[in-house]
Amino acid sequence: MAGNWKMYKTPAETRAFFDAFEPLVAGVSNCDIAICPSFVNLEAAVGSTEGSNIAIGGQNLYPAKEGAFTGEISGLMLNALGCKYVIVAHSERREYFHEAEADVVKKVRAALEYCLTPIVCIGEKLEERESGNTEVVLGAQFDGGLAPLTPEEFSKIVIAYEPVWAIGTGRTATPQIAQETHAFIRSKIKAAFGADAAAATRILYGGSVKPDNVAKLMSEEDIDGALVGGASLDPKSFAAVVKF
Ligand code: PGA
Repeated sequence: MAGNWKMYKTPAETRAFFDAFEPLVAGVSNCDIAICPSFVNLEAAVGSTEGSNIAIGGQNLYPAKEGAFTGEISGLMLNALGCKYVIVAHSERREYFHEAEADVVKKVRAALEYCLTPIVCIGEKLEERESGNTEVVLGAQFDGGLAPLTPEEFSKIVIAYEPVWAIGTGRTATPQIAQETHAFIRSKIKAAFGADAAAATRILYGGSVKPDNVAKLMSEEDIDGALVGGASLDPKSFAAVVKF
């Protein structure tokens, strides 16, 4: 269960969140919990969660160890701060910052090099779903960004399916739509990496996941977790999602 805080919260708000959130999920051992705050809040987040069952991740990384890349952050830096995860190719990165499939492969490899678990996002836009092209779009994202990985690299990633039309809109995919799409993604994994890899890969659903819809989504066979935006900003609501 991963929270994506996007561009929200200050360091003080980050500490206040974890003061409230940690006791609410202290006993949870049946799932992995991660929060991905913005870069400036990572130190506060890692400091607040030391020794707890909550892992911290970045929201993006640049695919080089270091260098003259003004404004960018590397996997080395995220690792050195204590991060365990990093989101790669969120639809907002694809849309506003023009990240392409070739960037995805480089970023996944850069994350793995520094022991970060990449949470790689794929998803179709509304017009792509409505024109019947969901599988074409997801297939191209998979083939371009994930299929080039070696089986060993692939075994270390988490996939997040996030239909762009469901992100921040309050319009969640129905459990049936989400399940069908997750099953399609798993079939792509099977074709590229084999049945064992398909069974072992965690595929998270993201897009307006809330305390009141998470249980139905999670009851679907191919949905293994959630990547949560808005509902992860409030300690009680994200704790309710985690403990669905
Ligand atoms: P949302 O965002 O839960 O606010 O829809 C999900 C995401 O973008 O990861």
